[in-house]
Amino acid sequence: MATLAVLTSGGDSPGMNAALRAMVKVAASRGVRVLGVQDGYDGLIDGVTRDLTVSAPHAPGGLAACRDVDVLGNEGGTLLGSARCARFRETEHRAVAADRLRALDGLVVIGGNGSLTGAHLLASECATPIVGIPASIDNDIGCTATALGVDTALNTILECCDRIGDTARSHRRAFVVEVMGRHSGYLAMASAVAAGADGVLLREQGRTEDQLVDAVAEMIRRSFALDRDRRRVLIVKAEGVEVPCTRLVRRVEEKLAGGMNVEIRATVLGHLVRGGRPTYQDRMIAGRLGLAAVDAALAGLTDRMMAWMPPVGGGTPTSDPAVFHFGLDAVLRETDALLDGTSPVTKWRLKTLESLESALGL
Ligand code: F6P
Repeated sequence: MATLAVLTSGGDSPGMNAALRAMVKVAASRGVRVLGVQDGYDGLIDGVTRDLTVSAPHAPGGLAACRDVDVLGNEGGTLLGSARCARFRETEHRAVAADRLRALDGLVVIGGNGSLTGAHLLASECATPIVGIPASIDNDIGCTATALGVDTALNTILECCDRIGDTARSHRRAFVVEVMGRHSGYLAMASAVAAGADGVLLREQGRTEDQLVDAVAEMIRRSFALDRDRRRVLIVKAEGVEVPCTRLVRRVEEKLAGGMNVEIRATVLGHLVRGGRPTYQDRMIAGRLGLAAVDAALAGLTDRMMAWMPPVGGGTPTSDPAVFHFGLDAVLRETDALLDGTSPVTKWRLKTLESLESALGL
């Protein structure tokens, strides 16, 4: 009987469990056993796995998904556990993992930038097919329109901003809301536009602390201008902007003191944004990438990532018109470019934001 292994790695993201469920069910229907690796690459090195398929004599493939997979498929987090595994950067530990994979027919890695880098290295060091599924709320993975968890995270941020808006309007206050995204401002930018925010602060804009203070003060001044009937100012700040929210707010208050009477508050959403049940979109994409990943691994493809690219994209099309696969080397190159700002996608995002910025506070 063929056996695949699967692991989730890096920051958890909503949709990981839905991808696991899809993979296990598809594999079971093809009579393929699935082993779940505990806690990412740590479990692969240490050989900690458990069967995610159970014997089901009446099912077409003689196998079915275990109860955990079935029950937790709609939940956030990852039922396999996750980790950022420093040991996996070392060749000797990857050699142990490669040794364990020898007896298997494929490995699917569900995770973000660091996890896919690990998958790429491992693929060049072992003959077992290795396939990736992009999962990171930050939407910072190259060659895919989105990653698992992004849609859920954005919806969570919008819900929080709407709630904060209730309080802001009640007290006529300005709020600076910080959202996750250490290296990528995507969540901040996309949520700011969708929440009708008055401004957005991204690491990619390269503002100094003084420039940030000036920009926020100006956003507040403009939005609360006397000739306008505004009671809420919302500024979304990406985590990657290194000035802490509280310091920024204090400095802006000092700058505005005397000129206008305004209360400013800071809210850091932090890990709140990473949890929660996946939205329909994340579950749907998880299902389709999960199916494609199983078929790719069983077909012997290796060093590839399944990508969500509707309606058209480069790469090699699969039987699903929205799912393509790309070589992990190309994915990682594009990921670097997304993060260092040289990717046309990042340039386009920033340019779009620039053209929108003057309209945001109106
Ligand atoms: O998963 C990516 C991410 O959400 C970043 O946006 C954030 O900076 C980081 O994870 C936080 O990671 P940790 O949970 O390890 O502190």
